[in-house]
Amino acid sequence: MKMKKWGVLAVAGALTASLALFGCSTTTAEEGAGDEATEASYTLVNEGKFTVGVSPDFPPFENLVDGEYVGFDIELSKAIAEELGLEVEFKTLQFDGIPAAVAAGGQVDVGITGLTITPDRQETVDFSDPYYIADQSVAVMKGGEITADNVDDLLNTEGMVIAVQSGSTGEAYAQENYSNATAQAYGNATDCFAAMQSGQADAVCMDKAVVEQMLAEAYTDAEVVKQVATGEEYAVAVSKDNPELLAAINEAIATLTEDGTIEDLTAQFLG
Ligand code: ARG
Repeated sequence: MKMKKWGVLAVAGALTASLALFGCSTTTAEEGAGDEATEASYTLVNEGKFTVGVSPDFPPFENLVDGEYVGFDIELSKAIAEELGLEVEFKTLQFDGIPAAVAAGGQVDVGITGLTITPDRQETVDFSDPYYIADQSVAVMKGGEITADNVDDLLNTEGMVIAVQSGSTGEAYAQENYSNATAQAYGNATDCFAAMQSGQADAVCMDKAVVEQMLAEAYTDAEVVKQVATGEEYAVAVSKDNPELLAAINEAIATLTEDGTIEDLTAQFLG
């Protein structure tokens, strides 16, 4: 599967390169400082800038602290931008609109926001090589009737409400696996926890690392009753019209993997 992806990439790259020979007018950016041989040709929403669409409601991947973007994806975005010789700029968008915004162009160059590679999304955007593997989990308020032993039966009953982020893989998981319950979608991921705490929802279904972080930092009265090894791959979403940017990002991710940057970020934010 990975081989196939690279094959497609190579063909796309060759195609763009030959188009460039005939004077295709894409922005030309130096790839990395002092790297004479490699020049990449890709389009950018704003010249010299790597404009990243992000939904900062998903700690420890992206969050706003005192108005500042913080988290794993934020640091990763900065590191990729640096590899590309570009200045990073973040643009807050509601999560469920990010793949479409990337596909439409004009607003953001990429989406780096805990975005799982899914076949549905692959119809509208291209994904970079993965940089993180995630799982799902289900949280409930402590002391309620739902426990680790009965969650699959009890949560899958009519009248149960599961708070999920609109358009997320957690929403899809809840709909598929707890089809008798109602998957209540919220635009903002953190609102799911508030809804559960205030009794509007019986559970939250979301990416495991984020549930753990939310519980540790704000919802100590909630607990995880189920973890599912979905093995989701987080990757950078890039427009299908921008194969050269995708290639440059993959090169940056390879460098940041080899030099230990991604490992350090994982230890820093997810250790
Ligand atoms: N990984 C999940 C998905 O792709 C959730 C991502 C939510 N990201 C966010 N920044 N709120 O659907």
